[in-house]
Amino acid sequence: DLTPSPYFYTDTRAIPVLPDRESFSNKGTFGHALLMAGSYGKIGAAVLASRSCLRGGVGLLTVQVPRCGYTIIQTSVPEAMCLTDEHETELTQPNDLSKYSAVGIGPGMGQAKASQQLLRQFIAQAQDIPCVIDADALNILSQERDLLEQLPAKTILTPHPKEFERLLGKPWKDDYEKLRLLQEFSTRYRIVVVLKGKHTVVASPDGEFHFNSTGNAGMATGGTGDVLTGVLTALLAQKLEPKEAAILGVYRHGEAGDRAAARRGMVALTAGDVVDGLRW
Ligand code: APR
Ligand code: MG
Repeated sequence: DLTPSPYFYTDTRAIPVLPDRESFSNKGTFGHALLMAGSYGKIGAAVLASRSCLRGGVGLLTVQVPRCGYTIIQTSVPEAMCLTDEHETELTQPNDLSKYSAVGIGPGMGQAKASQQLLRQFIAQAQDIPCVIDADALNILSQERDLLEQLPAKTILTPHPKEFERLLGKPWKDDYEKLRLLQEFSTRYRIVVVLKGKHTVVASPDGEFHFNSTGNAGMATGGTGDVLTGVLTALLAQKLEPKEAAILGVYRHGEAGDRAAARRGMVALTAGDVVDGLRW
């Protein structure tokens, strides 16, 4: 009883596109993204999301990391500007979001008390900004459930099944129930939810489902989700609507994984190879 009926997108004509790079465009045309990611020992998540955000075509990128991430970001992602948090190991510091066209938050962020408070302030400030909320930011949302009611209108959540189960606060008994709960969640909170896995599903507040057809089991390796967050943030910064950004970004991310697998094989594939596989 899933209505409207789901789409399985194998036909590339059904996939949203980015506008052409008009020859008189400049970096301002493609938006300024902010990524808030990383904590001590997980700055790699911020690196991967940053690299993929740049490969997603963003005009400018600022990355907020705890102090311990400063040198790592500046050396491994020289194209990005680094905004260091006042805290040495965790993300804690709210900042002025008004100059950003989109924000991605969560990869490698951890769930420290101060980061929980940061997420609360972030959601209050980000009401008019397109956002991607991922990983530990989702785990924090699962514990601070009142925040679910306050998510910005242009939000994309990107849970893997375990994170989605935490968001729901209960498990499902089969795939049909999972989809029904996903549809209910997306329509109730009026946000786009990307439920990741084989055939990642994009659920939108209009009740529709889009099942992705790209990607492979080689992508079941740490960091590939962080790469998706960077791509989606870049697409939102380029003014795609959340539903379009999610459908397109998930498709290209899987395609990048397929290119990486063709090149290296599924066993050797790493998240960095998925970044390298991105093409538009
Ligand atoms: N087929 C196709 N795609 C797959 C497959 C598969 N068999 N397995 C995984 N993927 C894709 C998913 O669709 C998703 O885009 O790889 C990505 C995995 O994302 P995550 O599950 O978020 O994994 P990861 O990037 O390793 O997350 C890093 O963040 O979310 C937390 O708990 C997570 O600690 C982990 C960390
Ligand atoms: Mg993840």
